[in-house]
Amino acid sequence: MNANAFEITDKDLILVTGASGYIATHIVKQLLELGFRVRGTVRSLKDDKKVLPLKTLISNPKHELELCEADLLNEESWPAAVKDCTYVLHTASPFPNKVPKDENEIISPAVSGTLSVLKACIQTDSKVKKVVLTSSVVAVAGDNLKHLYTYTENDWPDLKDQQAYTKSKIMAEKAAWDFMKENNPNFVLTTINPGYVMGPLLHNVPCTSIEVVRTLLMRETPILADILIPACDVRNVAQAHINAMMNPEADSQRHIIVSTVENTSMKDWALILDQEFSSKGYNVPTKVAPNFMIKFMSLFDAQINSMKKMLGIKSSFSNSRMINVLKVEPIALKSTIIDMAYSLIEKGIIAKKF
Ligand SMILES: NC(=O)c1ccc[n+]([C@@H]2O[C@H](COP(=O)([O-])OP(=O)(O)OC[C@H]3O[C@@H](n4cnc5c(N)ncnc54)[C@H](OP(=O)(O)O)[C@@H]3O)[C@@H](O)[C@H]2O)c1
Repeated sequence: MNANAFEITDKDLILVTGASGYIATHIVKQLLELGFRVRGTVRSLKDDKKVLPLKTLISNPKHELELCEADLLNEESWPAAVKDCTYVLHTASPFPNKVPKDENEIISPAVSGTLSVLKACIQTDSKVKKVVLTSSVVAVAGDNLKHLYTYTENDWPDLKDQQAYTKSKIMAEKAAWDFMKENNPNFVLTTINPGYVMGPLLHNVPCTSIEVVRTLLMRETPILADILIPACDVRNVAQAHINAMMNPEADSQRHIIVSTVENTSMKDWALILDQEFSSKGYNVPTKVAPNFMIKFMSLFDAQINSMKKMLGIKSSFSNSRMINVLKVEPIALKSTIIDMAYSLIEKGIIAKKF
């Protein structure tokens, strides 16, 4: 799909919220490569670790990336960020790697931040035509996956019995669709609902998405849990946002992004890493623990506890809208995992042993 498809030109200014995030850096890079004008929001322009990688994403961009400050918890910061933009890709939302003590630490910025961005898009001088919201498969399926069930974009989970992050994604996406119904604005909404995202990093800011590959490669766990996870590649997720922005067939729809319809197991992922890295000095765990052992360990560890309900559950997610509407061809899981591992080593997040 080229940059001129669907009448978006390089006169259009595209806002990417949370531009310094793992997924957003890929979106910004791909937009700049297509020659678009991009404005990104960050929480602080003084945070060099997050801002500097954005300045070197590509050499000689047709348009320099513009950056401004905005915080999800500060409604007043969004009108200036949205001003003059025709497209808004709203990725910013907390994605912590620990369960917070107070769930509102995550839910509040996710929900009120999304509403602040949407409200800014209906200000009187707004030029916004479309908002692409980064949601998640957790807003499709929740934490308690159904055995032998194939999820589609029509599925929504109950809010009951969900972890804080899952609630934040369900509530933020629901709030966005409700906002559209209540306000009937001049722009359309579309959502991207990725599975667990992996693939190379463009910055060296440790983020939640690196945790599984990092933990396996550093052998921080000697055994694996018998769980299957919907996974996808960060480069596909970025492309999905851009194609959803450009393609009118994506308007007012949700889009699940997964590399394979059947969920893949931690063991599948570990075997890919083991095959590539065992000769390079890494000792990747590949043995699966019996479920009773994981259930016992879950009594003492909140992270393990959050996996308990997934033990042995086999479910699938349809990626037909991803492939047929967004025209995103899934990158093979093997490349996703290996490319992520090499990038973690190159960035110094994992010690180099070869
Ligand atoms: N990675 C995945 O597996 C996955 C899967 C499905 C959906 N998602 C969704 O994808 C989006 C991006 O996630 P990611 O994986 O790229 O995580 P990430 O690297 O942690 O990015 C999150 C972004 O949100 C920003 N943010 C958080 N709280 C904020 C606040 N109060 N005000 C302004 N910005 C704030 C962060 O800014 P700072 O850099 O300043 O912290 C960062 O730019 C999120 O909506 C997440 O829920 C991720």
